Order: sequence, then structure tokens, then C-alpha cells
Amino acid sequence: MRLRKEVDMGKLVGILHGTEGPFPYDLIETINKKNIKGVRAEMIKTGAVGAGEKCSYDVIIDRISHCLPYFRDYTRNAFLNGTYVINNPFRFFLEKYFAYGVARKIGVKVPRTVLIPTKDHPKGFEDSDLENLEFPLKWEEIIEQVGGFPAVLKPSEGGGWRDVYIVHDMDELMDAYDKSGTTVMTLQEFINFQQYVRVLVYGKKYVMPIRYNPGHKEDPSQAAYIVDHEHLSPEMGKIVVNQAIKLCEVLDYDMNSVEFAIEDGVPYAIDFCNQVPDSRPDVVTPHYYEWILDKMSAVAIEYALNPPPISCWPSIKHLVHGEMEKRVNGE
Ligand SMILES: Nc1ncnc2c1ncn2[C@@H]1O[C@H](COP(=O)(O)OP(=O)(O)O)[C@@H](O)[C@H]1O
Ligand SMILES: [Mg+2]
Repeated sequence: MRLRKEVDMGKLVGILHGTEGPFPYDLIETINKKNIKGVRAEMIKTGAVGAGEKCSYDVIIDRISHCLPYFRDYTRNAFLNGTYVINNPFRFFLEKYFAYGVARKIGVKVPRTVLIPTKDHPKGFEDSDLENLEFPLKWEEIIEQVGGFPAVLKPSEGGGWRDVYIVHDMDELMDAYDKSGTTVMTLQEFINFQQYVRVLVYGKKYVMPIRYNPGHKEDPSQAAYIVDHEHLSPEMGKIVVNQAIKLCEVLDYDMNSVEFAIEDGVPYAIDFCNQVPDSRPDVVTPHYYEWILDKMSAVAIEYALNPPPISCWPSIKHLVHGEMEKRVNGE
């Protein structure tokens, strides 16, 4: 493992990523070209890591641990040793369903959403393990709770439009639910939106509300991101920008895209747990790609030089704070 002194006490930013085109490489280049107070960025290479082992990186931008669990443990070990990880590996809010509840608590409007016991259970579960679950489910009441059909059945923890069903009647709902197996699902009010916005938020302060076209999923020849500087009224722009920042603050995301569906002038937050916002230049357009590179690199540099307070469970906070202080003081 590389030791810190090899980097002359400069600040080091490391990138973790999966297959996502040029973004990770361009991000490294952008940070290095800014050449600010010796902050450097590089691709992380890692193998076996000792528990409690020091980490060379002051900041890690993690774009992979949500799909490769090894990296979740890797980033948590780094976090424990004073590395600022984007996004926080101790964020407890991965689940969409929970985040909808958090949004309501802070006054951000979300569609009515209910959690549904899973259709199937992992192998080996007996009926006696399920004593706490109501059966059969009262479907008529559940549908009423979300305002009737159409409704959206989707995973409580999902992404990439996986297993998202818009259902128009009981047959379609039962069909979709039967397919859900052991995935925890939610049923949600359908928002009959006229506009859809993806708000990119970096470092809880750099914000870009982008006109988004969900129709591109059915017809990939259509653009997903549309460069349009006039798509929102100034009032609506202010509302979605402020709500997106509030959501990223309370859910502790330093990179996120926050989706709003706007129906009759009311924005509903639909999807705001996107820990790795799409950054492929051909999807986000060259215009927004440049913006993303500029803002993500700015956050990495700012955090490397002056890490903001971290959040984790209170009983280990003092361990992490001690390590961060040492890092900041160059010890
Ligand atoms: N409550 C809803 N009302 C209307 N459309 C919805 C609703 N929920 C999801 N959708 C549609 O389904 C798409 C995928 O759902 P989303 O919650 O964003 O899941 P994912 O995390 O898989 O992207 C959204 O972009 C939107 O077009
Ligand atoms: Mg989405």
C-alpha cells in the first residue's frame, strides 16, 4: 500500500468507478489541471485491505460501491480513517421508501407512497416466521391510500427503472406484484406530470435543474437531457432548487440527481436517492457534462483542503473526527 508521505503531504483524491465512459478519467484530468495547492487526483487500485488500515486518500469519489459490495467495506474503512467519502458510506438512507418519509417530514411534497409486504420470502422461511405479517393484504384499502388507479408499483430500493410498473387496474397490479418475488415494493400515487426535471446537486450547493424527458426510456432515439434554459419559471426554478438542496442536506448526498414531476404547477419529488448520477457525455449533453466536471472537481478540491463535518452513528464519530483532524493538520 502507498504511504501518505510519498505524496509530499499534498491532498489526494481517489476515484472508484464502474463502466461509465470517459467521466472518471476526465474528472481526474480536470482536478489535476486545476492544480490547486497540490491537490492531485488518481484512479484507485486496491486489493486486500487490513481492518483499520490507513488510507492514502483525503477524498474518495465512490461511483461503484452501490453495486459492488467490496467497495462499500473499502470506503467505510477509509471513512473510519479520516477520508471524506462522496457519497457518505454511512448514509442510512439508501431506501427510497424511507427517503419519501424523510422528504415529507421536511416539507417536500412527494406522491402518496405505501410499503407493501413482499410477495415471496427467501428460501427456508416458514409460515411461523411470518406471524407479524397481515395476510391476505387488503388491496382495496392499499389502492385507496394512494388515490386509486393508475398507480406506480416500484421497489423500495431501486434504480435504473428496474421493476417500475405503471398499473391501471387490479389485474395489472396483481400481475406486477406476482412478479416482484422477494423484492420489497411500494405502491405510489401516479403523478400526471406536464414537466419532469432532474436537478443535479454537488456538494449540497452547486445546483443545475435540467429538463428531462422520461420518454427516452421507451424510445431511445429521443434525448434524455435537454438543454433548455427557459423550461421553468423563475419561481418554479427556485422551489425545485431549494427543495433539491434540502433533500441532499438531510439525506447527506454530495452528488445526487433529484427528480421532480410537476403536475398542475406542483412539483413532486419522485426519485432522489441517485448516489451515482449519470455522467455520460452522450446522455447528459456536452453542455451539462462540462458543468458536471467543473462542479464535481470543485467539490473534491474543496473537501480535500477543508473537509466538512461528517455524519455517522454518534458512538464512532469521535474516532473519525480525530483522524480527520490529523489529516487536515498533515500529521
Ligand atoms: N409516482 C410517479 N408518477 C408518475 N411517474 C412516475 C412515478 N414514479 C416513477 N415514475 C416514472 O418512472 C420512472 C422511473 O421511476 P423512478 O422512481 O425514477 O425509479 P428509478 O430509481 O428506477 O429511476 C420515472 O422517471 C418516471 O418517469
Ligand atoms: Mg429515476
